[in-house]
Amino acid sequence: MTKQVGVLTAGGDSPGLNAVLRGIGKAAQEQFRMEVVGFRDGFRGLMENRTIELNENALSGILTLGGTILGTSRDKPHRMRVGRRLMDMTDAIAENYRKNHLDVLVCIGGGGTQKNAFRLMQKGLNVITLPKTIDNDVAGTDVSFGFDTALGIATEAIDRLHSTAHSHHRIILVETMGHRAGWLALGAGVAGGADVILIPEIPYSIEKVAKAILSRCRGGKHSSIVAVAEGAQSLEDVAVVQKAEGKKKIKQPKTRDGKPGDEIALSDIGHGSNTLGLARQLENLTGLESRVTILGYLQRGGTPSANDRILATRLGTACTALIKDGTYGVMLAARGDRAEPVPLEEIVGKIKTVPLDHSWIESARRVGTSFGD
Ligand code: F6P
Repeated sequence: MTKQVGVLTAGGDSPGLNAVLRGIGKAAQEQFRMEVVGFRDGFRGLMENRTIELNENALSGILTLGGTILGTSRDKPHRMRVGRRLMDMTDAIAENYRKNHLDVLVCIGGGGTQKNAFRLMQKGLNVITLPKTIDNDVAGTDVSFGFDTALGIATEAIDRLHSTAHSHHRIILVETMGHRAGWLALGAGVAGGADVILIPEIPYSIEKVAKAILSRCRGGKHSSIVAVAEGAQSLEDVAVVQKAEGKKKIKQPKTRDGKPGDEIALSDIGHGSNTLGLARQLENLTGLESRVTILGYLQRGGTPSANDRILATRLGTACTALIKDGTYGVMLAARGDRAEPVPLEEIVGKIKTVPLDHSWIESARRVGTSFGD
């Protein structure tokens, strides 16, 4: 009997989403004669039953396109904004799953999407997930698609920033995305030859960062590039989080320019907008002019790299074989050259941060890069 496959993309957009949709759609239809329907804007489109038929026409010419032709959102099935209220819409979602006679729902996304798919699985839906995120922090997979492209963009940015840093004898801090993981800053920092790399996994001391920069000055190098992950945390940030452990909300410590911080969620400590303050601190401690470049959404946009196209095509097409066999409740992980199904319960709620003994950290230290520790 012809299988009915539903697909959605959820969470932040990322290069490679269209490549994976094409991989799933083409293999499902050409190899297995399955029917594929896409839901718009992540779990919201499934809740509102907004569909798009992913036929040959819709899948043609999208391999190299950035973003997602389905649209995406960060909506969660169990806490969805409906009017002015946050509501549990899992039943409505399950209803639409049945209305569309789906045999399986393929959810393409990062850590949050794995959790949301798992919840739907617990409601009795057949789900398969695929790991997407520029942050590379999905547990259980060697790599997620989107990361390679973002890494290339961040590396090119660092390459270009060297010119200005060198010509003006400045410190340039370049902030990458990455959420709570340091993969992007670390990878781009190593590839782009950053002099300092600050990642959430290694809390930094601002004095040690300044010391590393001043020691470069003494060696005649009056410019420095600091690659900062958006989630990088100073030792003080970490101490504040530890002190507040267990509490839901805390007062943010004074910002680096001395102003009192707003009340923020505990989990937001050290996340975002710290880099400007960090630049001011480094300027004060080193006497060198400091500038900031925040790469932001540039890292998520545009055409996927060749590696991401290959990875997305590998995972997308391999996913259809799982559907054929009826292997559900799994994330299809990239492991070496293989695509391996991993039970969702093994990875849900986990994040893959950079191990402290990772070879990228070791190599960076060997070429004299400071981590501010
Ligand atoms: O997870 C991908 C990511 O780009 C993170 O690196 C970043 O912290 C976050 O999404 C930004 O989210 P939003 O698109 O909601 O601003």
